[in-house]
Amino acid sequence: MRKQKVILDVDTGTDDAIAIMTALASPELDVLGVCTVNGNRSVDNTTENTLRLKEYLGSDVRVYKGCSLPMVSSLTDGRRPNMPITSLTDSNNIHGDYLELPPSKEAKAEDEHAVFFLIDTLMASDGDIILIPVGPLTNIAMAMRIEPEICKKIKRIVIMGGGYKEVNITPAAEFNFWVDPEAAKIVIDSGCDILIVPLDATHTGVMSLSDADEMEKMNTKASIYTASVIRKRQSGYKVWQPMADIDTVPIHDALAVCAVLDETVLEDVREVYADMDITNGVTDGMSVFDFDHRYKDRKANVKVALSANRKKFASMIKERLGNFY
Ligand code: BDR
Ligand code: CA
Repeated sequence: MRKQKVILDVDTGTDDAIAIMTALASPELDVLGVCTVNGNRSVDNTTENTLRLKEYLGSDVRVYKGCSLPMVSSLTDGRRPNMPITSLTDSNNIHGDYLELPPSKEAKAEDEHAVFFLIDTLMASDGDIILIPVGPLTNIAMAMRIEPEICKKIKRIVIMGGGYKEVNITPAAEFNFWVDPEAAKIVIDSGCDILIVPLDATHTGVMSLSDADEMEKMNTKASIYTASVIRKRQSGYKVWQPMADIDTVPIHDALAVCAVLDETVLEDVREVYADMDITNGVTDGMSVFDFDHRYKDRKANVKVALSANRKKFASMIKERLGNFY
């Protein structure tokens, strides 16, 4: 079987951790590298978290540290005052400052910066690499600005970010796009083949406490850790942003990885013109999808999924992580 080459771009984070494990546990994928970025926490923390996971799993995947700040959103007074995010008053404790895994000892990030790893790897490729960014899009947009030719080399970008009817960080915006909306706009406007997995999909493709129980019984390193992450996230989400079924919780980033493995895990996928609000008003960082063709002259630039198959998603995760380490 020919493996699909992928590069993950993460701000690890509990759901990023499950996304990384799912990708590493998928025989269909060849993970060329994992790039880290400022997002859920500072890039130092998200890199350490990624290295913790690498060491916990005994994986030899390469980790590349990326951008420590969004492109421009933190320059304007008061617009993004907490960047880089070193510690949030994360009373819901969905991520914590560090993953609850032993600190990394041996695992180190590569010397090359994530942005140059992206450029070098894409330019040397046969146009057969899929990017899976599941954090703010700073690294990808920066790479596109430094070497626009990479856009011709990217097979597809499958992004976790944005929301149509669902939001989470402001009344208008989803977290990844909100952290670096200019980067999101650059990527959306890049002309690449783009599939967006927004909150509308991740809030339907959820996992439950009973999935966690099953995973614990599977008794692999990855499944035991996933069970603990599902429980931790559910206890935070039930207070912060309860799902329709309170026993369930989104594992946003893992759904993007599953969509690369099998796009039918997504439902209601539409081609549409998408744009970003970068105007620093009340809807700053909001993703806009023109489903009703109000802009007569603008062509679809992305595909976006408005729902997901929860059963399929959960079984994909269990099948892979229940057989991994
Ligand atoms: C996204 O924000 C982050 O907190 C998660 O890791 C996910 O990538 C969801 O809005
Ligand atoms: Ca993330």
